[in-house]
Amino acid sequence: MSTNTDQKGQRAPWPAGQQPRVLVTQAVPQPGIDLLRTFAGVDANPDEGVIWSKEELKARLPGHDALYCLLTDTIDAEVLDAAPDLWVIANMAVGFNNIDIAEATRRGISVTDTPGEITDTTDDFAWALLMAAARRVAEADRFTRAGKFHGWGPLMLLGGGVAGRTLGVVGFGRIGQAVARRALGFGMPVLYYDIKPVDAETERELNARHVSLDELLANADFVSLHVNYTPETHHLLSREQFAHMKPTAYVVNTARGPVIDEAALAEALRDGQIAGAGLDVYENEPEVHPALLALENVVLAPHIASASIDTRNAMATMAAENIKAVVENRRPPNLVNPEVWGEG
Ligand code: GLV
Repeated sequence: MSTNTDQKGQRAPWPAGQQPRVLVTQAVPQPGIDLLRTFAGVDANPDEGVIWSKEELKARLPGHDALYCLLTDTIDAEVLDAAPDLWVIANMAVGFNNIDIAEATRRGISVTDTPGEITDTTDDFAWALLMAAARRVAEADRFTRAGKFHGWGPLMLLGGGVAGRTLGVVGFGRIGQAVARRALGFGMPVLYYDIKPVDAETERELNARHVSLDELLANADFVSLHVNYTPETHHLLSREQFAHMKPTAYVVNTARGPVIDEAALAEALRDGQIAGAGLDVYENEPEVHPALLALENVVLAPHIASASIDTRNAMATMAAENIKAVVENRRPPNLVNPEVWGEG
């Protein structure tokens, strides 16, 4: 039996006075490391941009009580077997589909994420991609750098309109709602799809109407994805869905890559079934489908929606706070598996 549970399988208290050892899998913003060092021994990957393989991670895990990881680390049963004494996994991300939560819960390991400040930053970026796709910003930059700008032209780089068009938001949680709030400034009515509609007052406030996914796809000029990645949302947008969309519509994905069938998206973009797309996430990161790389009408960002200095510092600190709470026997503020704490 691991030390994080007692004989009855209940969560055991962290032994008073014992300093935890934390493994940090990538170079993360310094405020997170600084906070960890106030209460823990820290072993951190010193090499910026270097992602440990599963084998490297497994080799480094033994002897650590806490794992501070990123969405690029796959934490499954095999990895957890290498860390029988783990008490907490703090993911420095709002999404946690990289972690086998059921397996962690079964082993009495608290899992935490970093919601909150990431909301606005991610939404700003969803809008950056929306605008860039509609107004061909990345393509225009390539055009200018290639020396093709020979003077203002009435037919040059024409794109789609934004203000007053209809925004479709798929997944209307914190992040989806904040995307809709920004649409108010552009005078855009919002159609949203979510398994759980919001209350009438929020709908009024956000000028938003709850519709089926089919209705949303048929009517939206922009479709922005804000769902978690689960088996139910795998390939939520595929051939059939793109066929339902307007040929003038754009798709924006700042959620998780596999929510879109990338091969189908590339075909839809190539065949003019939709007008364009802005993507921050990919089905097989860091690979980008080669068919997408060959297209001009898609803006491709390297998973940077939360990458503002302030937000990354806040996320780094938040992940460290969650570990601190566990070793102070407090419920971590951003717990995603409350069962470990006898709830849910
Ligand atoms: C980024 O994609 C995150 O989940 O934080």
